[in-house]
Amino acid sequence: MPILGLGTWKSATNEVYEAVKTAIKSGYRHIDCAAIYGNEKEVGDAIRESIAEGVVTREELWITSKLWNNSHGRDNVIPALTKTLTDLQLDYLDLYLIHWPVPLKPDAAFPLGEGSFYTLEEQPVSDTWQGMEAAYEKGLARQIGVSNFGIKKLEELLETSPVKPMVNQVELHPYLSQTALVDYCHAQNIYVTAYSPLGSSDRPEQMKGADEPVLLKDDTISKIADSKGISTAQVLLSWVKQRGISVIPKSVNPGRLAQNLAAADITLSDEEMHQINALNRDRRYIDGSFWTVPGSPHSLDTFWD
Ligand code: A2P
Repeated sequence: MPILGLGTWKSATNEVYEAVKTAIKSGYRHIDCAAIYGNEKEVGDAIRESIAEGVVTREELWITSKLWNNSHGRDNVIPALTKTLTDLQLDYLDLYLIHWPVPLKPDAAFPLGEGSFYTLEEQPVSDTWQGMEAAYEKGLARQIGVSNFGIKKLEELLETSPVKPMVNQVELHPYLSQTALVDYCHAQNIYVTAYSPLGSSDRPEQMKGADEPVLLKDDTISKIADSKGISTAQVLLSWVKQRGISVIPKSVNPGRLAQNLAAADITLSDEEMHQINALNRDRRYIDGSFWTVPGSPHSLDTFWD
């Protein structure tokens, strides 16, 4: 997996086509997608045209997508994956992930409430995982994994599954360094991908807290950026990369796309890494509270376990 990829969550349908085309032209080889982002068709158009124009081959690209929550269950995975492949206009994915350990009823719609959720007893993740394994065995996904899983949920999955999850994609940045989870994953040969590495300030207002710290304006990060003549975003991305974690910043802006990709070639000193490590405050921007609404079987006390 190329260590630096392009995130497409929050990329509007009228912007993502150009963003993906520009990204591929400027050297991105890893695109992170999901059915719920509602833009896989436009991403697929950009991939298809980039290949048709000879800019890149399918084999040179790494395309990830994710199973949405209303398609949990062994028999629902391949139909959901087939829809994603149709939208992305691909024969196979490089990586397919269970997006959240949150099974929803097929017709569940926001705002969620009582009646939207299956409990994990009614719809165990291990059952969904069997569908993921079937997709893997058919070659529809060359690798399979999960997203938003904590250590306990990974342990449960590892106990029962013949094919182990190969990747866990989680929120990760200097305010949420995820050290224990990363150590656990690496010990189990599970590769980690970091989402929201820049703090996802473009996410919907209802997902934001009142007094959120702004990662891109952090003093320590800014000082390191100034001293190296690079941007704060580049410091944030290099810090993730240097921990052996892949990272998928989202941008639809040509200048920022190029800047972010260039972070793959920046090296931070040990002292700079230590200074950034010290910023951890276990602060989630995506705190999962939208899965713990009244009537939900989930609670924030245990959600990230
Ligand atoms: P834009 O798409 O206009 O570039 P995350 O990857 O953490 O979800 O963050 C995405 C947000 O960060 C978007 O608002 C995106 O805006 C912005 N962004 C992406 N790259 C940079 C950059 N290099 N500098 C500042 N903001 C950036």
